[in-house]
Amino acid sequence: MAEKVIQLAPMLGLIDAPFMNAIAEVGGFDEIFAPYMLADERSIPKPQVLARRFSGISKSVNLVPQLLSNNADAFVAMANILNDLGYPKVNWNMGCPIKFVVSKNRGAALLRDLENLERLLDSAIGRLKPELSVKIRIGFSSPDEFPAIIEIFNKFKINELIIHARTAEQQYGGEPYRQAFIESAGNSLNPIVYNGDITRADEADISLPNLKGYMIGRGAIANPYIGLQIKGLPADNVPTFKQFATEITHWYCARNSLNRLKELWKYFAKALDKPDEIFAKLQKINDSEKFCETVESLF
Ligand SMILES: Cc1cc2nc3c(=O)[nH]c(=O)nc-3n(C[C@H](O)[C@H](O)[C@H](O)COP(=O)(O)O)c2cc1C
Repeated sequence: MAEKVIQLAPMLGLIDAPFMNAIAEVGGFDEIFAPYMLADERSIPKPQVLARRFSGISKSVNLVPQLLSNNADAFVAMANILNDLGYPKVNWNMGCPIKFVVSKNRGAALLRDLENLERLLDSAIGRLKPELSVKIRIGFSSPDEFPAIIEIFNKFKINELIIHARTAEQQYGGEPYRQAFIESAGNSLNPIVYNGDITRADEADISLPNLKGYMIGRGAIANPYIGLQIKGLPADNVPTFKQFATEITHWYCARNSLNRLKELWKYFAKALDKPDEIFAKLQKINDSEKFCETVESLF
């Protein structure tokens, strides 16, 4: 495949409109995935309610909404509303490993029962108006599950299969199974996207003929220029890191969202000298104004 597509990973509780707008201004990311919304058959939102969810997001953001669901009817209903609202592609979250999601048989839990997974896809795909993108884990408990998961998706034609190369049991820690990914992902008849711990441009070096691109999450907070760097594009006329991080910081300070700021700064700090020291200092602050002043003083 030609030039790789670079996607910003969905991150609930970390990334929303201010970060999306800022990274779209930097460039290098072809698509930005929104954190998941629940698609539940008992509560399909009205189109105007769904549209409001994305109201703060700039038109320059090429947004892909994501749905969490274990119900084909609910997924189709909500995805089709999103398509009517102008989104050509919708992502199905089959990778979330969080206990309260998995215990309701959603997210990565769908990878545990491949017969049910096949039934779900079969029931949804023919009725979907938008293109279908699916985000999975390399397995629920082990990467050995990966080849069989690919075989299920090979029975369908989808836009892409995004693979976070950790198992659901690993959650977000430990090493991604990059080698196991490379060994089996080539068998996918659908285009594949690699996800997991890409923090530098030279780590985006997987050569598989069906590799469509890379999805980057935490690495893009610490380095919002990573998309440009992977593509070999200059970062001359784009906001500096100081502008990028302070603009987002001010936005949350104005809303007193200190917890969010502390989460974001876990990653922003990595772009500066002595990240652990900076992070420890910011963690102690309990006042938004002070937080903003301290951030200004870091640059
Ligand atoms: C705080 C947090 C929230 C996340 N929320 C979502 C989500 O809403 N949907 C999803 O598919 N993945 C979610 N993820 C997983 C990321 O999209 C991504 O797969 C993961 O962070 C690995 O990529 P990275 O190593 O580049 O960060 C989340 C991850 C984190 C750390």
